[in-house]
Amino acid sequence: MLNVGLKNKKPVKIAVKASCPDLASQAQELADCLGLPMESPECTLLHRSGGRTQDRLLLRLSSEGLELVKPDDPKLRGAVRVDFTAGQAAFRRKQQKKELLVRAVGGKGGASLNIIDATGGLGRDSFLLAAAGHQVRIFEQQPVVAALLADGLERAAAHPETAEIRARIRLTAGDAVQVLGNIRENGEGQGIDVVYLDPMFPERRKSALVKKELQLLQLLAQADAAPERLLNAALKVAGQRVVVKRPLKAPCLTDLSPSHVLTGKTIRFDVYLGGVLSRNRKASG
Ligand SMILES: C[S@@+](CC[C@H](N)C(=O)[O-])C[C@H]1O[C@@H](n2cnc3c(N)ncnc32)[C@H](O)[C@@H]1O
Repeated sequence: MLNVGLKNKKPVKIAVKASCPDLASQAQELADCLGLPMESPECTLLHRSGGRTQDRLLLRLSSEGLELVKPDDPKLRGAVRVDFTAGQAAFRRKQQKKELLVRAVGGKGGASLNIIDATGGLGRDSFLLAAAGHQVRIFEQQPVVAALLADGLERAAAHPETAEIRARIRLTAGDAVQVLGNIRENGEGQGIDVVYLDPMFPERRKSALVKKELQLLQLLAQADAAPERLLNAALKVAGQRVVVKRPLKAPCLTDLSPSHVLTGKTIRFDVYLGGVLSRNRKASG
């Protein structure tokens, strides 16, 4: 098993497993692509006998798709997988006009915007924005998270209710600070209306599912570029606005004050508009 983790965090061991022999070669391909080992029986035995000194995750490929599990943790039973076709995601998609995020990105009169979601995660927010008619380009730096998201998007493409929405989304695995920097240097920023940021923050939401997902995401989290670097990169590229999701009472990402704030029950969206954007572009030459 390979160690994946933050410098100052307990490392996480992660391996790929096929849930049935038919999927073995596909699972091996995925493992090769992600640079992860396949789960072996010896690995499992070693863990059971040796006690839990490290967190251990499995990326399991089944006929239902790709899922992430933490087999040794009774509190985190069940799998995390991305499914835009059912459950909470389907509900939010149908109610998208009421979502604060959809209001926060703007686009009055049904205008379709070009949005970069620079912290894609499991893609819930991106899918919502695409369901509202926007073109969304997602960046996700954690390869396992990007693989889970790519799998969910693939199934969304095959479902009649979500295929059209999925066609408005493009996923790139990589560090958004770097990619946004390249976009700017190469003069490719024309036409990008909004950059959306939802950096990882300590979770207090009530839903058990969200908690489980976030705990697993936090285990996988890489040494995140400091969120202020993300905000600076976003401010230099966005044509209309940068929108940042924050816990309701958390401080802003940097000393820069947002132009306005949309407040929900547990979260808020800090919106940085025109003047702030052009001042940042001028300041950086
Ligand atoms: C809180 S999650 C985002 C959840 C997402 N909004 C959703 O709806 O599922 C934050 C994600 O941002 C990713 N991330 C953080 N910094 C990044 C960066 N510089 N480039 C790309 N992804 C980044 C993390 O790997 C993590 O998956």
